[in-house]
Amino acid sequence: MSAAGAIPSVAANAVKIPLVGLGTWDLRGRTCVRMVEQALRLGYRHIDTAEMYDNEREVGEGLHASGVKRGEVFVTTKVWPSHFAPRELERAARDSLARLRLREVDLLLLHWPNPQIPLADTLGALCKVKRDGLARHIGVSNFTVKLVEEAVRLSTEPLICNQIECHPFLDQSKVIAACRKHDMAVVAYSPIARGSARNDKLLARIGAAHGKTAAQVCLRFLVQQDIVVIPRTSKEQRLSENAGVFDFSLSAAEMREIAGLAHRDGRIVDWSYSGRAQWD
Ligand SMILES: NC(=O)c1ccc[n+]([C@@H]2O[C@H](COP(=O)([O-])OP(=O)(O)OC[C@H]3O[C@@H](n4cnc5c(N)ncnc54)[C@H](OP(=O)(O)O)[C@@H]3O)[C@@H](O)[C@H]2O)c1
Repeated sequence: MSAAGAIPSVAANAVKIPLVGLGTWDLRGRTCVRMVEQALRLGYRHIDTAEMYDNEREVGEGLHASGVKRGEVFVTTKVWPSHFAPRELERAARDSLARLRLREVDLLLLHWPNPQIPLADTLGALCKVKRDGLARHIGVSNFTVKLVEEAVRLSTEPLICNQIECHPFLDQSKVIAACRKHDMAVVAYSPIARGSARNDKLLARIGAAHGKTAAQVCLRFLVQQDIVVIPRTSKEQRLSENAGVFDFSLSAAEMREIAGLAHRDGRIVDWSYSGRAQWD
């Protein structure tokens, strides 16, 4: 990757979000510190973590070690659903900030829906956390079309994103359309399908035509639709590869071919414990 700031942003409710960020789920200890620090040195300006990842301390350490100014980095964390009761949510947000050693995060998300606690109560608490200055912006994750509509109706503050599983092997067009309707960014998690994109023959063939890897074609397919991607890697050489998706474009025919990879059971992340059936 070239100079800092080379990664473009997308706007959602007038908020700019860098189109490529570093995912950190499963990055632990020194590896996590090193990857966050190195990503920022290479020009990444967006880091994704969560209280559930149990690595906010290491993410904070990497952020501080990088020397990049706080105002230049977009930091997201997420509240786990067991902390959705209003008082718990505020405490969870404060605990995350203490671990990250930050005064505020750029984006605080509800990690998964929790059908046990009224969404109105949880969103009320999330909005208050924003008003109190603990989070510059707020949003949701793993919300279905129905839940996106309900959340937008209930929230007194703009919801700037829905972070969802999104890659060429899964059709997310309905929930993407719902987000667009409300000017919410779509942030794609598992954007390279947990690494399996690298073995896909179509992505590899298209990549070869552009001098790019299958993983880069996979990420380009998303960012070319203004979908934010947060690929995770524990390997420094892949940081540049995953951010190197802005110096080529896919033709309309290539985009159509890649969209054809989507299938119904393309989901990787297990939704079964989230009570999803109640929300569809
Ligand atoms: N909101 C949610 O509920 C939720 C759920 C899941 C994930 N997330 C977020 O989204 C982030 C990304 O999703 P993910 O971690 O599930 O999956 P992912 O980013 O699609 O894939 C990560 C895997 O791909 C490999 N990889 C990375 N770059 C590669 C490349 N250029 N070529 C080939 N393989 C490559 C990595 O291995 P190496 O380490 O060996 O490179 C790792 O095994 C997470 O880290 C987390 O921050 C959010």
